[in-house]
Amino acid sequence: MLIDGKNYESIWVDENDQGIIRVIDQQKLPFFFEIKELCSVDDVYTAIGDMTVRGAPLIGAAAAFGIYLATRELTPHSSIHNHLSNAAGYLKSCRPTAVNLSWAVDLMLQNLTGIGDPEQLTETALKSALEICRTEKEKCRLIGEYGLQIISEVAEKKRGEPVNILTHCNAGWLACIDYGTATAPVYLAREKGIPQHIWVDETRPKNQGARLTAWELGNQGVPYTLITDNSGGHLMQKGMVDLVFVGCDRATRKGDIANKIGTYLKALSAVDNNIPFYALMPSSSIDFSLYEGLSEIIVEEREQDEVTSVTGYSDGVIKSVRICPDDARAGNWGFDVTPARLITGLITEKGICRADEESIMELFSDKFK
Ligand code: MRU
Repeated sequence: MLIDGKNYESIWVDENDQGIIRVIDQQKLPFFFEIKELCSVDDVYTAIGDMTVRGAPLIGAAAAFGIYLATRELTPHSSIHNHLSNAAGYLKSCRPTAVNLSWAVDLMLQNLTGIGDPEQLTETALKSALEICRTEKEKCRLIGEYGLQIISEVAEKKRGEPVNILTHCNAGWLACIDYGTATAPVYLAREKGIPQHIWVDETRPKNQGARLTAWELGNQGVPYTLITDNSGGHLMQKGMVDLVFVGCDRATRKGDIANKIGTYLKALSAVDNNIPFYALMPSSSIDFSLYEGLSEIIVEEREQDEVTSVTGYSDGVIKSVRICPDDARAGNWGFDVTPARLITGLITEKGICRADEESIMELFSDKFK
């Protein structure tokens, strides 16, 4: 997407400098726009863990490049198989919830199977990682096309009044190489001149909504209002929300979804107020091996200090300040599970389906063979 008139993706390999992976440092946005280089498997592991890169599809893409970097770290004495499977295990252990991580790593290993020549291995790994980026980006574009139909239908009923969409966390282009999932239809609607306005949940504790979604929407000229995480229910009761669009880190084959903590509460409010609640995701975020989200999806637990302090910008620097007593204990679950029964539909690159096993099977029949 465009930043100051220049087109960016959230991860790329510089053509003149083959081999170095570059990412936008999402820890620093929106205060500083900095590009970080990832030169080793360790760099990728650290960048995913500290959320320099975050968001399910981007985590997958970064891990794919991690496997590529692993092929460059082979020593003359190492067994290719052992070396790559160690790197794969290490990268997969970074964050537990987004299935895109293991999906991308496994796909990379599959594409590298049987290659014994180190040079060919590295060349194939780079091509495969770039192909993962290309296809993930295309999936997001298609999600945008399908989601646009939903926005257009609401816009028609509203006869020129803006369509109010509530979103949680950042399921934007920063999280997805390009376009985003929840934001892809919004960007297409903007291109079509459909009036819309986005309610952006701040998304404590890491403030992905306040820092990243607000920054993205502002750059693309989409009107938005930042709200505290607890405001959504009130706005829905007052008729100020027409649609809820959220991303997804892992969906099960019956349509339960894990997404950023707080998503479940938005779904409950949406159902209570008869507001359509859609989860938007590429198929790489669907874990077809799981059925019951609540019991089977591992929810990441992060450090307490993300909750006991708030990070912001003042006097030219990014600072953290403590917001509770010194001895306060905090719980920091990164995600929650929204059961399928609360979800109006899943918007994927293959189309829109109900959040139930039958509809998901119909759309993704190739995955159920
Ligand atoms: O902890 P994060 O910032 O990686 O969480 C991201 C989300 O919850 C997104 O909504 C999800 O990954 C979908 S991104 C298209």
